[in-house]
Amino acid sequence: MQEAMNKGSGVVKLRGWCYRERKSSKLAFVVLRDDTNIIQCVVDKAVVKPEVWDAAEKVNIESSLWVEGEIKEDKRAPTGYEVQVSNMQLIHLAERFPITKDQSTEFLLDVRHLWVRSRELTNVWKVKAQILAGAREFFRQKGYYEVTPPIITGSSCEGGSTLFQIKYFDDKAFLSQSAQLYLEAMIFSLNKVWALTPSFRAEPSKTNRHLTEYWHLEGEEAFMGFEDLLKFEEELVAFICQWTAEHAAKELQILGRNPEDLRKITAPFPRITYDEALKILKNDGIDVPWGKDLRTIEEEALMKHYDKPLLVTRYPKEIKAFYMKDDPQDERVVLCCDVLAPEGYGEIIGSSERETDVNILINKLKAQGEKVENYNWYLDLRRFGSVQHSGFGLGIERVVRWLCKLETIRDAIPFPRTIKRMTP
Ligand code: 4AD
Ligand code: MG
Repeated sequence: MQEAMNKGSGVVKLRGWCYRERKSSKLAFVVLRDDTNIIQCVVDKAVVKPEVWDAAEKVNIESSLWVEGEIKEDKRAPTGYEVQVSNMQLIHLAERFPITKDQSTEFLLDVRHLWVRSRELTNVWKVKAQILAGAREFFRQKGYYEVTPPIITGSSCEGGSTLFQIKYFDDKAFLSQSAQLYLEAMIFSLNKVWALTPSFRAEPSKTNRHLTEYWHLEGEEAFMGFEDLLKFEEELVAFICQWTAEHAAKELQILGRNPEDLRKITAPFPRITYDEALKILKNDGIDVPWGKDLRTIEEEALMKHYDKPLLVTRYPKEIKAFYMKDDPQDERVVLCCDVLAPEGYGEIIGSSERETDVNILINKLKAQGEKVENYNWYLDLRRFGSVQHSGFGLGIERVVRWLCKLETIRDAIPFPRTIKRMTP
């Protein structure tokens, strides 16, 4: 359809779905949509064969059809072009479409399998596809290999509280929270690896930034230290922003995001430590006791000071995962980094340099109440050619929400899984 509009004149044949229709006794206006755009098609009873007029009279919202006719520019038409129909045929006459204007969010989620066709969501899917294409291109340019880690696992990466347990024959297993431990194993084969996998978190709270199933983009690199990790993350986020502004400008605009906002996201980004974050918050009248994690409201308050993503480093070790390396300069904290998106969209990346000392890892696992024997395979990675390494995980839907300016993360994924919902 967009191709026909770009051509601007001549006879075209288009297939799609009826987006809107309006009829009088002599004329029918059928707005046709496909993945690329919408276009108004005009059927004139005086000009077309009776069976074509019959089809035009019958067609209703979401019927599928094809039309043939002359395309021409028309400033009054919704997208500036119009097709003077010479032939039209219904492919499928739809039943009465259940979605009309002003329906509740819950109802729209109930009919999500139909709502995914809406114009707004269609634009989100297109932006998301470009975000993924940009990320893939970035890893390619950096010489990373894509790998395929498992989803069913026996060991927890991010702690037991958000683990989904499944029955696994006569045993139990978990759904992956992160591919990280497997990516760590793969760097000893391929040095630099990345993966895009679904990750699962039994998040008990209903928020605008948590899903129970989300797409996780993770990278891990051998011989990479903390400073290089931070640089890599800045470059990745900046690259995704530039790529998406370039390849999805029209869709971003329809969604209310000016692509220029994203063009301004260039590396380097501001960096502060957890300690500095607490000082900034204190100045704003928000007291966070040292050792407490930053909550959504604190992250939002912090981000009022920045218009680019912010790197917050060196959190207290008690609130971070067992695999993070202690900071040699300050034993209270670990060499980790959370990347926070601007405009209050919150954490998009969690990352760290990894602990390489097998005994420190064993002690941390014990301190967190984990069974060390569940991690024997992982500890082997520190027994056979252990090297300094670092990695990160980026929540794709968090980035989609930010770039598309979405109210809720649920609209960043076609079929959101949340505490109350696993259908459709
Ligand atoms: O910060 P997290 O928990 O870090 C990890 O899982 C590391 N093992 C990643 C790694 O180093 N390979 O999660 C990483 C990112 C978060 O920053 C966030 O963007 C996203 O995953 N995320 C979620 N997105 C949607 N819904 C949820 N419930 C999410 N939990 C985390
Ligand atoms: Mg995190």
